[in-house]
Amino acid sequence: MEDLKGLILSGGKGTRLRPITHTSAKQLVPVANKPVLFYGIEAMAAAGIREVGIIVAPETGGEIRTAVGDGSRFGVGITYIEQDAPLGLAHAVLTAQPFLGDSAFVMYLGDNLLQGGIEDLVAAFRTNEPEALILLTAVPDPENYGVAELDGGQVVRLSEKPSSPATDLALVGVYMFTPAIHEAARAISPSGRGELEITDAIQHLVDGGRRVEPHIVKGWWKDTGRLEDMLEANRLVLDTIESRVDGELVDSQIGGRVVVEPGARLERSYVRGPAIVGAGARVVDAYVGPYTAIGEECVIEQAEVEHSILLAGSSVRALDGRMESSLLGRNVSIGRDGRQPRAYRFMVGDNSEIGIL
Ligand code: G1P
Repeated sequence: MEDLKGLILSGGKGTRLRPITHTSAKQLVPVANKPVLFYGIEAMAAAGIREVGIIVAPETGGEIRTAVGDGSRFGVGITYIEQDAPLGLAHAVLTAQPFLGDSAFVMYLGDNLLQGGIEDLVAAFRTNEPEALILLTAVPDPENYGVAELDGGQVVRLSEKPSSPATDLALVGVYMFTPAIHEAARAISPSGRGELEITDAIQHLVDGGRRVEPHIVKGWWKDTGRLEDMLEANRLVLDTIESRVDGELVDSQIGGRVVVEPGARLERSYVRGPAIVGAGARVVDAYVGPYTAIGEECVIEQAEVEHSILLAGSSVRALDGRMESSLLGRNVSIGRDGRQPRAYRFMVGDNSEIGIL
């Protein structure tokens, strides 16, 4: 199994993260100032995988190519594979077949984050040689995921988003397969949501007497499809950062673990970590609280921001109340408007959400 390949799925519409995903792929939304997708590529590189295929959608493929490049900075070679329509995870596998050939592979959903990487899984897969290895974790809302039933340490049944789940064991978006999955993906029919479900393809392996090995995830796992999950992922990753101040502090203080990137400037401000202030950002007469990731070239002035993600070029100015649990896209500007008549003035995209005091 020397030629284990990687397959990262980075298509999908990201409907639950609109309006951010109207203009950007969900896999490129940053967690602790790094696109979600990069964590998956790094996990593959760390597990010794050298050839990675990335499935992209026609709409967002260009942007993903620009962000990731040829993979050399991650130490992997990248092949982009276009999936014409989001017809399911098993359809993505079939689309990638020319790239995968007869190699075993790790499949990683590009909006998933898995603490501790995939090295242990790759090792278990190589040692035990099952046809598939799936990752499971107990969740409070299994009806939103693929759900597994186990018997004597073996997978006996899988169902995709069942209305009355038999267990609380959700399928995590990282899988390992031998080429047997291709035939299984060809054998199944589209689900109620019109997709070829990888869950059904794995069930097909189980039905055919193939060995599907379950692994319970020990660390945390996040599917970053929704705002709450994105903020939670940001919190979990920021909890692991080490302090580093490469920017400039003027009459400012930091407390706890804080990263201040080169060219960033804090003036008369307080930043309480864990938090990260991106390159070229300015924090002036402001407070930045725990679990905040401020993107490059952002400006926080006479305002308080906490537990939030700000993408590059955004600004928050002169707010009366603290801003929290927020996700701002690129070049968003929020601030006090002194013009007459006194009024709220908004220019926001489709599906935006604004909460005011
Ligand atoms: C997909 C899979 C599901 C799995 C989930 C993990 O769901 O179909 O089995 O539990 O990813 O993130 P989707 O994100 O397509 O709703």
